[in-house]
Amino acid sequence: MRLPAEPFRIKVVEPLRRVSRAERERLILEAGLNIFAVPADSIYVDLLTDSGTSAMSDRQWAGLMLGDESYAGSRNFFHFQDTIREIFGYRHVIPTHQGRMAENLLFSTVVKPGDVVPNNIHFDTTRANVEHQNAEAVDLVIDEGLDPATLHDFKGNLDPRKLGALLKERGRDKVPLVMITVTNNSGGGQPVSIANVRAVREVCDRHGVPLFFDACRFAENCWFIKQREPGWADRSIPEIARELFSYGDGCTMSAKKDGLVNIGGFLALNNQEWAERITNLLILVEGFSTYGGLAGRDLEAISIGLREVLDEDYLAFRTGQVQHLGELLEDAGVPIVKPVGGHAVYLDVRRFMPHMPQSQYPGQALVVALYRDYGIRAVEVGSLMFGHRDPESGEMVYPKLELVRLAVPRRVYTTEHMRYVAESVIELHRSPERIRGLRITHEAPTLRHYTARLEVLDAAGARTALQRA
Ligand SMILES: Cc1ncc(COP(=O)(O)O)c(C=O)c1O
Repeated sequence: MRLPAEPFRIKVVEPLRRVSRAERERLILEAGLNIFAVPADSIYVDLLTDSGTSAMSDRQWAGLMLGDESYAGSRNFFHFQDTIREIFGYRHVIPTHQGRMAENLLFSTVVKPGDVVPNNIHFDTTRANVEHQNAEAVDLVIDEGLDPATLHDFKGNLDPRKLGALLKERGRDKVPLVMITVTNNSGGGQPVSIANVRAVREVCDRHGVPLFFDACRFAENCWFIKQREPGWADRSIPEIARELFSYGDGCTMSAKKDGLVNIGGFLALNNQEWAERITNLLILVEGFSTYGGLAGRDLEAISIGLREVLDEDYLAFRTGQVQHLGELLEDAGVPIVKPVGGHAVYLDVRRFMPHMPQSQYPGQALVVALYRDYGIRAVEVGSLMFGHRDPESGEMVYPKLELVRLAVPRRVYTTEHMRYVAESVIELHRSPERIRGLRITHEAPTLRHYTARLEVLDAAGARTALQRA
């Protein structure tokens, strides 16, 4: 595939500071080998996340100046509401400061203790918000979606048979809603097809259960439908989006992804009674219903971003840039998860560094090496993030997949930056044995990857200074 050139030109630049290797080594040591604790201005290419890291367009920046900061009835809210109604087709539009608040409001309103919420794969905040209600979050992605090596056009699909079985077993009263995440972030940014959404809807209808979308990356999902699903090649992205969302009763969204903004989110739904209850809660915890924790100017930037993200030149470039990074790596024999998803390339660390056991945190060791040697920030999705002690045996349990995610921010980096990243990873891959394993010296009881401190092991597996690694 040839990568389409950037469909924008650059009007404002943010200088990147090149920090010496010696300084990076000092900084990562001070950070306890935890990339979250490294100052962002010492990073050359930051691929930590695609969330809230987009570059806004000139129109969005102009939109900020049109912010109407009235407490109630801001004109920006009406633009926001019109845009969301037009794209998603749901009647009630509730702004929130980001995606997890939309999830929290929805689940606090409709999920009871003991309930079950199925999803293709819950994103971690979605799962945590379901569990916060003492309910169970169940992942029902198709089997192919769990295998990093299987090629499938719609690896994010939710398995309708698994859903039917769950609904039959638990009963309609225990399942307040079904969710589908588009694209499926926790499964590698893989898309969901229209045919699959229809099939899921049929199962939901049979059992009388509402269907909601986690719509964070909806435009990227619609682009994959246009490219891959028979019958959709000649339809516009807004037409595909309308069709997709027509099978649902509502959605949650973090606008920090396909809203092309740095902060914001919303909840949109048709059920009037739920909308009223959610709005009452919104006023208690976020703000009045026409701003929901955001400034008027933020609402304007989101309205504009949601329209810009539907542009096909943008989407071809966006998904093409991520794909291009994946192809550069794959062509050089670097093991990655396939197919490449919409927003990130995942390195398959077990094949990248077969010499290192999971007990030595190989994914995190690779993240440290990428920063120290090249100034690139990636994130580990493996034994540091998910490893835990079995409460009964006390033994360490490691996740099946050991990955490093290179998430690409929207409209931020050029193709040359991607080439720099690819060349750096390829160079590391040529001599992975020079990367040393790690051990944890400090960890928090939950979500330890954010604050853990680590140190390097020497060749014999003992502690050593990073300088000798
Ligand atoms: C699929 C998905 N759902 C929900 C969220 C939560 O959004 P936020 O970070 O805005 O709270 C994210 C964020 O990364 C996500 O990827």
